[in-house]
Amino acid sequence: QTHTRADGRGPAGTATGRGGAARASLRQDRWWVTPAVTVAVLTGFVGYGMWAAFRNAAYYADPYLSPFYSPCLTDSCPRDALGSGFFGDLPWISPAIPILIFPLGFRLTCYYYRKAYYRSFWWAPPACAVPDARRKYSGETRLPLIMQNVHRYFLYFGILFIGLLAYEAVGAFGFDGHFGVGVGTGMLVVNVVLLGLYTFSCHSFRHLCGGGLRTLSAHPIRRQMWQAVSALNRRHMVWAWASLLWIMITDLYIWLVAAGHLHDYHWVA
Ligand code: FES
Repeated sequence: QTHTRADGRGPAGTATGRGGAARASLRQDRWWVTPAVTVAVLTGFVGYGMWAAFRNAAYYADPYLSPFYSPCLTDSCPRDALGSGFFGDLPWISPAIPILIFPLGFRLTCYYYRKAYYRSFWWAPPACAVPDARRKYSGETRLPLIMQNVHRYFLYFGILFIGLLAYEAVGAFGFDGHFGVGVGTGMLVVNVVLLGLYTFSCHSFRHLCGGGLRTLSAHPIRRQMWQAVSALNRRHMVWAWASLLWIMITDLYIWLVAAGHLHDYHWVA
């Protein structure tokens, strides 16, 4: 039997790197499937998201506003969109661009996504018991990765966005001043529910509810909130993927309707 020394070198003097194995992984299963799927889906989403954000057209099919463009803050937005005209006339820029930093920053610094893209894109490490692709590892202790600590601040904007998206989802029940329900209404409602589950299952939100206390049991309301968030937090990964894919599907649907490629079925009272 061989042992890895405390200095990180194997018995034959070979550098082992973090993770300890002196040679290729002993794992026999297809451990590479998860990182490969993660790369494929995240790359696909980034590609779609860039097209959606820059297309600057067909993002509104009355009464549906694409979540990529919500809140819609320029003059070119539909008249009744929340915050419309806040930035004034910006004809040279897509209304999705000024707000992009908030959802993007929230996702990029998310604890779950960090694990996902560190493993899949950087192979640091790619899977349990599989060595890192790189010898050196400084973690998140210095620039640029120490910036990941700003996640908690993006959370505050994430919560604000849930309110804004909920407002737009409620607006999707209004068809020319009449109450109605359409396929797009359902999609926007599901969108805000999934984003809400993702946001309120956040690790930082869990800490906000129950962290920083010496005795949690002495604060029954915060303890109950922490327990509820903890229950959601167990499936944070599921909410992360579900909300990511659904926002893409919702935007695609609204684009298809707005561009005249698809008819929206709805019932109006
Ligand atoms: Fe994922 Fe906060 S940890 S959103």
